[in-house]
This record gives sequence, C-alpha cells and structure tokens, in this order.
Amino acid sequence: MNELNDKWNSEFAAGKLNFLRRDNEQVRLKLVARLIHGHLEGEAVPLIDLGSGEGHLCKWLDEAKISQYVAVDISDVALGNIVEAKIPVTRICQSLATYFPDDEMKSSPLVIVANEVLYYGADSVDQLKRIAEGQSENCLVVISAVGPHPDKPNWTAASIKLWKEIDALGWCKLEVEIARDEESGVIWDIVIFKVTP
Ligand SMILES: C[S@@+](CC[C@H](N)C(=O)[O-])C[C@H]1O[C@@H](n2cnc3c(N)ncnc32)[C@H](O)[C@@H]1O
Repeated sequence: MNELNDKWNSEFAAGKLNFLRRDNEQVRLKLVARLIHGHLEGEAVPLIDLGSGEGHLCKWLDEAKISQYVAVDISDVALGNIVEAKIPVTRICQSLATYFPDDEMKSSPLVIVANEVLYYGADSVDQLKRIAEGQSENCLVVISAVGPHPDKPNWTAASIKLWKEIDALGWCKLEVEIARDEESGVIWDIVIFKVTP
C-alpha cells in the first residue's frame, strides 16, 4: 500500500490529475449522477465512491437522494482536496484491496461507484465483487471506464478486458450510457447494475 500510496500522492501533488477537474470530465460525472438518481426511490442512501480522487462526483449528487458521500482512495493528498458540499463527506484512505465497509454501511441500501479506477490492479474487479456482494441489502453499482479510441490501442484492449471481467460477474444490468468529449474524441462507457445479496 505504501508504495502505491506514494505514487498516487506524488501524482496528485504534481498536478498530474488536474485534468479530472476539467469540464469535459464533469460531463462524464454528471451523467453518472443522473444514472444514479434515476434508479433511486425513497429515502436518501449513502454512496461509496471507490477511487474517488478529489471527489468531483460529490458536487453533482442530489442531497435528496444521497445522504452521505464516502470517499475511498489510496491517496490522502487527493482526499484532502475534496471540497465539502451539501452532502456530508467521509474520507477513507485505503486501497480497494484493504477497504471493508463498516457494519452500518454493510447493512444499508447504498450506491457503490467505481469510476476510472478498475484499470490499476489485477484484482480490482474481484475487490469490487467482494465489497458489493458483501452487502446485506440491495445495492446499485456504477462503473465507468474509458472506451475504445482510434489513437489509443492500449485503452481499447484494457476496456475490452475489463468489461469482459465485469460481465462475468453476472450482475443485473439496469442501464448503459456513453459520455463523450467531442473535442478529444474520448468516450466513457458507464453501466449501472443492481446487486442483490
Ligand atoms: C483516474 S483517477 C479517477 C478519479 C475519480 N474516480 C474520477 O472518476 O474522476 C483514479 C483514482 O483511483 C485511485 N486509486 C488508484 N488505485 C487505487 C487502489 N488500488 N485503491 C484505491 N484507490 C486507487 C487514485 O488515487 C485516483 O484517485
């Protein structure tokens, strides 16, 4: 964890992830928020954002739907940059591999988000499965990953491999969306699933 924590901390401190603050990335996050809101009914529920970075998703979330924003990230530098909004924020500095939701979270209906984070560890999808399937209540899981791009063959291969692994989980797919940055041609595939205990 220390080596990885240092790596991500240095990248955030050097401003290498500042591109995530840009408007074209917010288009993706707004769409993620819209998907989540569209599939929630009734009382507001907590949301766990795995690999939250600086928590930009939080500012698009509706407090009538989301009661608490739990930011889990390997970088304490990123977590320290989260701007407080209307929704209470909890910051947890852990890797996906060592994060375990506490008992209160485990027994609550909730939303789990994994945006642009599942590429980095060989067992990331297994860790997401452990966390989502360990819930004792239904949860929504939202995953986003950068899609195929003509100039980026590595992205295409990584994306195909990732979605294959995710499909193998057999989770109930509720909706699929694509976010697009018209300027760069980058697309992101976004899928929301329902996972039942
Ligand atoms: C590309 S950024 C995505 C940030 C945010 N989710 C978004 O969509 O804008 C990847 C984030 O994942 C975090 N990260 C990378 N590996 C991780 C791991 N094994 N466990 C937890 N967080 C991790 C990084 O620190 C970084 O904040």
